[in-house]
Amino acid sequence: MVLKRHAKSGRESDRAMSAGCIGIVVAAGRGHRLGGEVPKQYRPLGGRPLLRHCLEALSAHRQVDAVRVVLHPDDRALYEAAADGLDLLLPVAGGVTRQESVRRGLESLAELDPAHVLIHDAARPFLDPAIIDRILAALEDNPGAIAALPVVDTLKREAGGASRGTVDRRDLWRAQTPQGFRYAEILAAHTAAPAEGLTDDAAVAEAAGLAVALVMGAEENFKVTTEEDLARAERMLASGGRSGDWETRTGLGFDVHRFGPGDHVWLCGLRIDHAQGLIGHSDADVGLHALTDAVLGAVGAGDIGEHFPPSDPQWRDAASDRFLAHACALAAARGAHIASLDVTIVCERPKIGPHRAHMVARIAEITGLAQDRVSVKATTTEGLGFTGRGEGIAAQAVASVRLPAGDGGTGP
Ligand code: CTP
Ligand code: MG
Repeated sequence: MVLKRHAKSGRESDRAMSAGCIGIVVAAGRGHRLGGEVPKQYRPLGGRPLLRHCLEALSAHRQVDAVRVVLHPDDRALYEAAADGLDLLLPVAGGVTRQESVRRGLESLAELDPAHVLIHDAARPFLDPAIIDRILAALEDNPGAIAALPVVDTLKREAGGASRGTVDRRDLWRAQTPQGFRYAEILAAHTAAPAEGLTDDAAVAEAAGLAVALVMGAEENFKVTTEEDLARAERMLASGGRSGDWETRTGLGFDVHRFGPGDHVWLCGLRIDHAQGLIGHSDADVGLHALTDAVLGAVGAGDIGEHFPPSDPQWRDAASDRFLAHACALAAARGAHIASLDVTIVCERPKIGPHRAHMVARIAEITGLAQDRVSVKATTTEGLGFTGRGEGIAAQAVASVRLPAGDGGTGP
């Protein structure tokens, strides 16, 4: 906040501002692939310059203290029009490559010395504040954190117009921006970078040995590269920031685990002391298993057994938060937004009531949802059936998701 006030009055050299987070928007490219009379970041989108969209999103975020644009010296007048009325730091000139533009942006902040920077492409107009939240949260424990999406399509290696093999996509993610870093460390990494031509800042950080966390990006946060992208962005704006109409889908999940020897159970991501344990290949968390199946069901992505086969030793004793997080990542990669999650735990014991609020908080943490979109309920079966006899615990869950209509993904 202090920084914002100083930024407005142009006193950028005050070292007292050191604590904040500064957004750097790189806008010095020429947009050759898109072409047109002006570089793509100045093309109109919804009647305003494309660049302005992300500037508004960044400067409106309460944890972003100031924003600086890196521009091409030829674009001054275009920049002034695009930034009109916004409270920004003075722009600085970029370089021939994106990497050089970022480096110059970073060097220009030496006096301000922020704790963190968020580096963002001007060409990504749909910057969701929730992504900024996730990056800043991850920066508490990591020197770097970037928005990214897991690859869902099967990948082929091509030669001579034919497929020469299939690339394992399991660990592959598509990098987006913003990319957030501790300022001093990314500045040092950029200064020491071995070569030009690294296409994102995570690559620069990796070259310097910095750990970079991946947080969930969004399909909507795409980079405008071609004329087709610009048309898609225009359609999204026309329908309220989306690529078309939304449809709502619902998924159902159900799971049971049997009691066995032990002194605790895992339920909805919490370890709860109990006179017995639950038997299962993983941690036997029925609540998270039912939720995972509900999310997978809502986007038509199979079930938990398909994604995490019990026969696969890597899931032995696995913590089930991974299953639910994976299901959410898969849903997000298909453009889905989870609207609500609701789980009911069926057992006589342990009593769920005292843990309910913690369970809601834990599920919200795993899924990235607000707590008011998560519900945990519990019931007994009045002593009837296997849960009534205390032989095991059952859980059922419902997930409601919103998906862009007619754009529900391209298969598993
Ligand atoms: N960028 C930059 N300085 C450069 C090159 C790129 O600041 N020398 C910025 C672009 O303005 C854009 C972002 O980096 O916001 C991502 O780059 P890209 O999408 O490749 O944009 P352009 O380089 O402008 O487009 P093209 O590659 O089609 O020429
Ligand atoms: Mg480029």
